Amino acid sequence: MQSIVEKDFGTPRRHSAQSVTLTIDGQEVTVPEGTSVMRAAALCDVKIPKLCATDQLEAFGSCRLCLVQIDGMKGLPASCTTPVAAGMKVSTQTKQLADIRRGVMELYISDHPLDCLTCPANGHCELQDMAGVVGLREVRYGYDGANHLAAEKDSSNPYFTFDAAKCIVCSRCVRACDEQQGTLALTIQGRGFDSKVAAGQDVPFMDSECVSCGACVQACPTATLSEKSLIDLGQAEHSKITTCAYCGVGCSFRAEMKGEEVVRIVPNKDGHANHGHSCVKGRFAIGYATHADRIMKPMIRSRITDPWREVSWIEAISHAATELKRIQARYGRDSIGGITSSRCTNEETYLVQKLVRAGFGNNNVDTCARVCHSPTGYGLKQTLGESAGTQNFDSVMKADVIFVIGANPTDGHPVFGSMMKRRLRQGARLIVADPRTIDLVRTPHIAADQHLKLRPGTNVALINSLAHVIVSEGLVKEDFVRARCDLESFEKWRHFVADERHSPEAMEAVSGVPAASVRAAARLYASAGNGAIYYGLGVTEHSQGSTMVMGIANLAMATGNIGREGVGVNPLRGQNNVQGSCDMGSFPHEFPGYRHVSDAATRHLLEDAWGVSLQEEPGLRIPNMFEAALDGDFKGLYIEGEDIAQSDPNTQHVTAALMAMECIIVQDLFLNESAKFAHVFLPGSSFLEKDGTFTNAERRISRVRKVMQPKSGYADWEITQLLANAVGYPMHYQDASEIMDEIARLTPTFAGVSFARIDELGSIQWPCNAAHPDGTPTMHVGEFVRGKGKFLVTEYVPTREKVNAKFPLILTTGRILSQYNVGAQTRRTENNRWHAEDRLEIHPNDAEERGIADGDWVGISSRAGETVLRARVTERVQPGVVYTTFHFPESGANVITTDNSDWATNCPEYKVTAVQATRVSQPSEWQKRFREFTETQEGLLKSADASSAQ
Ligand code: SF4
Ligand code: SF4
Ligand code: SF4
Ligand code: FES
Repeated sequence: MQSIVEKDFGTPRRHSAQSVTLTIDGQEVTVPEGTSVMRAAALCDVKIPKLCATDQLEAFGSCRLCLVQIDGMKGLPASCTTPVAAGMKVSTQTKQLADIRRGVMELYISDHPLDCLTCPANGHCELQDMAGVVGLREVRYGYDGANHLAAEKDSSNPYFTFDAAKCIVCSRCVRACDEQQGTLALTIQGRGFDSKVAAGQDVPFMDSECVSCGACVQACPTATLSEKSLIDLGQAEHSKITTCAYCGVGCSFRAEMKGEEVVRIVPNKDGHANHGHSCVKGRFAIGYATHADRIMKPMIRSRITDPWREVSWIEAISHAATELKRIQARYGRDSIGGITSSRCTNEETYLVQKLVRAGFGNNNVDTCARVCHSPTGYGLKQTLGESAGTQNFDSVMKADVIFVIGANPTDGHPVFGSMMKRRLRQGARLIVADPRTIDLVRTPHIAADQHLKLRPGTNVALINSLAHVIVSEGLVKEDFVRARCDLESFEKWRHFVADERHSPEAMEAVSGVPAASVRAAARLYASAGNGAIYYGLGVTEHSQGSTMVMGIANLAMATGNIGREGVGVNPLRGQNNVQGSCDMGSFPHEFPGYRHVSDAATRHLLEDAWGVSLQEEPGLRIPNMFEAALDGDFKGLYIEGEDIAQSDPNTQHVTAALMAMECIIVQDLFLNESAKFAHVFLPGSSFLEKDGTFTNAERRISRVRKVMQPKSGYADWEITQLLANAVGYPMHYQDASEIMDEIARLTPTFAGVSFARIDELGSIQWPCNAAHPDGTPTMHVGEFVRGKGKFLVTEYVPTREKVNAKFPLILTTGRILSQYNVGAQTRRTENNRWHAEDRLEIHPNDAEERGIADGDWVGISSRAGETVLRARVTERVQPGVVYTTFHFPESGANVITTDNSDWATNCPEYKVTAVQATRVSQPSEWQKRFREFTETQEGLLKSADASSAQ
């Protein structure tokens, strides 16, 4: 259990090889060069009063409370803005300083309401603390100065309030928004006593550019900016460090609790991925965990047209196991399988794949990474030798050129997006390759040097033309290639990309990107010093997703941008545990640690440990499971934490496959879209209710810690264990740490990982073993994991998905900041205030041609299906391209996406669907059927509630 109040050192940590020794109030202290006097004092437990300083922000020097006396120095310098010097002698407590500090506090207090007893910050207000520290006893100026006391409270943000009457205009919030978040939504308006904090052009927070990251709330030393939950519940009693359950940044948080109730979630300053920053999802969107929609009791039914019946855990598990065994007895061993999720912990995922391989006796296990980053696993393994990103996030702070391809960090990976923006504001150059104008292209103080606005589906054409410039203009880092790479493969690749048909000029007609921009981007990246590539699903979710990943790796190797800080190939993982779910062996062809099932040595190792014989042939991938179900060969499915009926492409195909099965077991928090086709529902637990680990996009393994008991009675890994025992495969883990111990025993890259070790180090980036006992922040240093880096020829093959007269537009999909994946969690929070529906972005030219105005209902039809969304007319998208998010099931974005997929991994081609858009006045036929089906299923769920109430 951690203390509620974290120590604040006043100014940020400095990293320097040089140390400086000084004396503060007679104590000698040695600190890195560049450290402030205030921080040095805090490090030796000397407390200097402060108000405008905090260790998350650069010093500002405005409040004058932190003045100190320094021998030989004139006047009384502010300790927050004064760097240490060797031999300096500092006094922090003198009569003169005390008088000045009291005077400063008098001024502050004269302009502050005296309602401390009823203030939500009572007990953790820095103003109150400082009044005590400086010994304030009287306020000579009265309490009614020309102040802000009458200012109106702004409660427009659903998660926090802005009570301007309490503001001391210390500017911490403004600086937090500028420095940490990079949104620059706040300003100080006016001067002197008239100065005040304003959001945007002095509008309510909700109407400003504010993205509700919470940094200003965190920075505020008073109750001016306060979480509404804190105002409602009062201060927490205890806290625990845990990890965000949303995106692949994997932010570390303190869950501040009162009993079993979460008072607030606060970013952990010591979090290695987020360094005390957060986004609106992790910081605030946890209401889903206690939402009324959560199902707490197990349920079963024979057919999906039957009402649900609430049953005991014993009955539910035994029914599920009996059904699975019946199906296997009737249709064969391979007729069942399991799907795990990147929303599950490593331990949960490991158990699901173990249940399938050892308990079901086949390799029919897959994960939602199939539909997002499976090409990353394949492409990076082939070229670099390891299926993972090469850097830690901090590495971006050493990048000179940042190349973002098919990723939207400020929406998809917001905390890392903020870090990236910080580096860009420091002067790093930016290249963006994206069909859409993402925020990063132009945002306060940032403008991309090149925005390669390519046509969806032409990534490989673009990467080949970038490679062509690098090869033909002599930009290859020959030394690096000669020393580190497989030369035969390099020569083959060099010869391939040098061909004129790959030149930017030849490819311009294909990608739509002006040749001059491609040439400029290639030169910039190749001559960067440190060039770092960050990519996302805009790379992987294509028919050539794996080819593009290999193309990116080729480019990084050819320019020597790999194997040190500031460079690398960095896949930005969508969900919190995409990396972990892949690491844990949830693909049908790989055991934990990316070892192929045909590898006899690994198989024998696992067979010995697990006491069963294992199949040596890969099992079914998710799309193969659907095909087999429709063919009548695949009849039973255990799904933990994943909603394939919403997230997988070609919804009608998926639901037909689900309807063809005889037993679908869904383990989840809510009756999600897949659960509407289920026969057994096992109520899962939220991240607040269980122990385990998540592995983020940096390969960083962090602890998820239980802060409340599982509301349904069992943590998810325990449910899988119950099911395993019921199908006849014994599992007897006492807690989640034992599962990690087994993973470490059986997986060389995890050999040094344990809960105890993570607790000790805070987090660990794998590989972690005897060679790297503290983990591995940067991979491929000195040598690639596969030995020599391998170049692969990346022939551009246009997608089969062609536009024509019937389907003249290309639909591409993506995410938005406030919602997460299928939205099951975020839709059940106030985040809907920012995004309550998926909309279709369409270029003004295309809209005008079709008579579509902003807000109109638009029918979108593809070769797979049809749906209806409202239009957002915007120049963010280029003519000929439309775009939508996929967070709401009724939008049916995946009704229109097709079965096309990556040639190597079957990752669906979500990013390219040929469509037509027309103005309509009613929902699509699919939407009507969907609504009817949903109403029926909700009715069948209610009957379970009714039966349990009797
Ligand atoms: S809102 Fe808080 S952080 Fe911002 S200026 Fe006022 S007191 Fe300081
Ligand atoms: S919540 Fe974040 S974005 Fe909004 S004003 Fe505060 S710091 Fe800026
Ligand atoms: S959603 Fe991602 S960026 Fe936001 S708090 Fe969670 S891990 Fe951090
Ligand atoms: S804390 Fe140093 S001037 Fe405010």
